[in-house]
Amino acid sequence: MTEQHYEVAFVGAGNMGEALIRGLLQAGHTAERIAIADARPEQVEALQARYPGLATGRAEDLAGSSATLVLAVKPQTLPELAPGLRDAVAIGAPLVLSVAAGITTRQLAGWLGPQTRLIRAMPNTPALVGAGVSGLYAAPTATPEDHATATRLLEAVGRAIWVTDEEQMHAVTATSGSGPAYVFLMIEAMEEAARTLGLPSETALELTLGTLAGATRLATETQEDAAELRRRVTSPGGTTERALQVLEDGDLRGLIRRAMQAAADRSRELGD
Ligand SMILES: NC(=O)c1ccc[n+]([C@@H]2O[C@H](COP(=O)([O-])OP(=O)(O)OC[C@H]3O[C@@H](n4cnc5c(N)ncnc54)[C@H](OP(=O)(O)O)[C@@H]3O)[C@@H](O)[C@H]2O)c1
Repeated sequence: MTEQHYEVAFVGAGNMGEALIRGLLQAGHTAERIAIADARPEQVEALQARYPGLATGRAEDLAGSSATLVLAVKPQTLPELAPGLRDAVAIGAPLVLSVAAGITTRQLAGWLGPQTRLIRAMPNTPALVGAGVSGLYAAPTATPEDHATATRLLEAVGRAIWVTDEEQMHAVTATSGSGPAYVFLMIEAMEEAARTLGLPSETALELTLGTLAGATRLATETQEDAAELRRRVTSPGGTTERALQVLEDGDLRGLIRRAMQAAADRSRELGD
């Protein structure tokens, strides 16, 4: 094993890579011990300007000289990129943490070598503001220290939740990975409806965002489950009851079930 010069190296430093880097720096990690490799030189320069001290190098070099190697490129990029890192990973023996949606540890082990210590993480975009929630799965090759390292890394941008069966990563992807987009669609729809009902745009947005944030906080902080909280705002014969009837008649639950099934199916296709 060569000297592990970097604590963490990122191959791919786009949205998710940058979110993790920012989180690590805010959590007190040293920029000089974090390295990035990205296909776009201007992206490397921009990140080095935003986070002074950040190191850079070729992906193969970083793979051989880092304690943890984070793969944060698009899933489609990995079949071409990962086999080229195989020799360096064999020499440097880093923990390899992949955030690529749908790519399985079996695929990664095929490209990088069967002994590679592998962990998959599925973060989500609220990580950009430190409010992410990530699902994680460790291959049997990962050690307890690797679990701790991955938890620390992902907790720099929010919460980290482990699953024990890799199959569940498809459900994680459909729930928390794609989930923010469902909520953004809800924001768009509520805001638009509020405007149609006569509210100025700004008021419509403020009330929508405040309501979603407040309801989520209430559901998080209280001991009651969501169904009970819903019943409490639904007085018989009242306005909420009338609105919920429309949502139930339109089969909102069925629609969400089908949407999440479609996301999980797509996640499976990506891993084929
Ligand atoms: N964003 C999310 O919400 C989210 C959530 C969970 C998981 N993820 C996962 O995170 C990964 C990255 O997503 P992202 O949104 O951060 O993508 P992104 O912004 O496109 O970042 C990927 C970066 O990697 C670069 N890259 C491409 N090929 C490379 C190579 N061979 N070597 C080094 N760098 C290379 C890309 O450059 P080019 O633009 O030139 O290709 C780009 O700058 C994906 O696998 C995704 O599934 C993302």
